[in-house]
Amino acid sequence: MLRPSLQSILDVALLTRVAATASSCRTDSLPTPTLLGGSILSIEAAQVNSATISSSSIDFCNVSVIYTHPGQNDRINVSLWLPNTWNGRFQGVGGGGWTTNADFGDMVSAVSQGYAAATTNGGHTAITNTSSWAMLSPGNVNLYLLQDFASVSLNDMTIISKQLTEAYYGKPISRSYWNGCSTGGRQGLMMAQRYPDAYDGILAEAPAINWAEFIVAEFWPQRVMHEMEYFPNQCELSAITSAAVEACDELDGLEDGIIGMIGLCDFDPRSAVGKAYTCGDLASHVTEEAATIVQTIWTGARDAYGRFQWYGFPRGTPLNGLANTTCSSNGTCIGVPFAISKDWHQIFLKRDPNFDPYSMTQAEWDAAFHASVNQYTSIIGTSDPDLTQFKNAGGKMITWHGMADQLIFYNGTVDYYERVLEADPGAKEYYRFYAAPGVGHCRGGVGAVPTDPLAQLVKWVEEGEVPTTLTANRTVEGRRWEQGLCAYPLSSKYIGGDPASASSFRCE
Ligand SMILES: *[C@@H]1O[C@H](CO)[C@@H](O)[C@H](O)[C@H]1NC(C)=O
Ligand SMILES: *[C@@H]1O[C@H](CO)[C@@H](O)[C@H](O)[C@H]1NC(C)=O
Ligand SMILES: *[C@@H]1O[C@H](CO)[C@@H](O)[C@H](O)[C@H]1NC(C)=O
Ligand SMILES: *[C@@H]1O[C@H](CO)[C@@H](O)[C@H](O)[C@H]1NC(C)=O
Ligand SMILES: *[C@@H]1O[C@H](CO)[C@@H](O)[C@H](O)[C@H]1NC(C)=O
Ligand SMILES: *[C@@H]1O[C@H](CO)[C@@H](O)[C@H](O)[C@H]1NC(C)=O
Ligand SMILES: *[C@@H]1O[C@H](CO)[C@@H](O)[C@H](O)[C@H]1NC(C)=O
Repeated sequence: MLRPSLQSILDVALLTRVAATASSCRTDSLPTPTLLGGSILSIEAAQVNSATISSSSIDFCNVSVIYTHPGQNDRINVSLWLPNTWNGRFQGVGGGGWTTNADFGDMVSAVSQGYAAATTNGGHTAITNTSSWAMLSPGNVNLYLLQDFASVSLNDMTIISKQLTEAYYGKPISRSYWNGCSTGGRQGLMMAQRYPDAYDGILAEAPAINWAEFIVAEFWPQRVMHEMEYFPNQCELSAITSAAVEACDELDGLEDGIIGMIGLCDFDPRSAVGKAYTCGDLASHVTEEAATIVQTIWTGARDAYGRFQWYGFPRGTPLNGLANTTCSSNGTCIGVPFAISKDWHQIFLKRDPNFDPYSMTQAEWDAAFHASVNQYTSIIGTSDPDLTQFKNAGGKMITWHGMADQLIFYNGTVDYYERVLEADPGAKEYYRFYAAPGVGHCRGGVGAVPTDPLAQLVKWVEEGEVPTTLTANRTVEGRRWEQGLCAYPLSSKYIGGDPASASSFRCE
């Protein structure tokens, strides 16, 4: 990894403004990149001007590379955007859900900040229903494409794109960053764990790590409702969630609609039984069945002997992501499983696109859970806590996770970070984790969302400025509230004063 001084970075940045001109954005002016195990099928380059793309003012060279791993029958697209005004840095941009590649908007955002930005489609199209690519033939999972999605294509994209970036500008890249949330966060951690030299800084937000466990467990809430033979409407579930928030809100010193200290909240959902709620025209009361369902979802997946399989949700987390239901006008509701989890059970575990995951007995559930961990952890678990190689390469990494994440269990990230600290008690020198109370999956919710964590990562990597807290903000009654998210294991406590000011909170 290159470590130029700050001055030489600035020099590079200044020079490249001059060097990069639209005229060099031609297919025949770019070299064919070399990639161990890969064979380049085509390269295409064409200038894109801001007017044609969005309101952001970005002009860039759009480079598209298609390659294959001979013998693996895949065909992978890499997309590299090279801005006319380059800041000297490279950014690998992560995907979401089953989609390997970045959102268009995330690429625009990176390029508008001057990054050379790249993404890969991992060899499959971006859709939730995986049977189109993940089943080779009846009963056969396409493990090579799963491996492309999980790890290999991400490193390939980085290797290919770095070569083309340096050739285009005629200058070395000063620093490289990964930026992603959810699947993109998992991809970032995969880079740190498996390709530790690739990135100087990694922003791995709400990461979909512990994949082999949590994707199975995402079906648990549906299973619980099915076993209870009762699918509550969403209003009944939110009545219980709100009761928990009311009961535990003030544990962090401030009544603001957020449970900040989830570890101290032991609200019992049975105390909400009989509570009145309305749902459109329907006025009803919280049932015992719903209270039991919510308690079992909060507890998390357990096996036939009551033993831990995976975490549930912290109290206060919206249940509409994984315990979603849809109701007919006669009041009868049915479950709506989260598509990725349903897919995982059908395609990857049962190898049968028509399999009904509600049909599993407890023994079958336990077998599925075990099979997932046993067969897939090494491919896509992304749960290796040994970051020694990343540390030795000089990398820095930031993770934040919303405590009210409705899709990925917040405590899975706590679990991973605890294991990182166990492996290396000094890990916070290069890897920091921040909890975001009240924040949903990657964004949303009522809590303060990190304002510009990538900028804080860049300062940490390039100027040694340690991100003691992660700057975050939220909007309360039209007013901007600022907060510094605390580095785990500290929690934010209100110490008095204007709640809109970060100085009214202390990490303890
Ligand atoms: C970049 O080029 C590829 C390949 O020609 C094309 O599919 C894609 O739409 C282009 N992207 C933009 C933003 O123009
Ligand atoms: C890959 O790129 C080719 C050429 O630009 C395009 O035709 C194809 O649709 C792309 N595939 C995917 C899955 O985006
Ligand atoms: C997924 O797609 C396949 C065909 O591509 C179709 O047969 C199947 O019904 C789809 N499954 C879902 C859950 O949409
Ligand atoms: C989840 O993590 C929090 C720390 O942020 C901890 O207080 C709580 O006990 C954990 N819950 C479980 C079920 O492990
Ligand atoms: C819940 O399911 C309904 C019906 O399929 C759907 O319209 C809604 O978007 C889902 N809600 C969430 C939060 O996914
Ligand atoms: C309610 O409506 C659904 C969908 O129309 C139907 O399947 C169900 O049998 C009805 N339930 C009752 C109790 O009438
Ligand atoms: C944080 O502040 C920015 C800038 O004022 C604003 O655009 C953004 O919506 C705020 N975030 C939240 C979650 O309110």
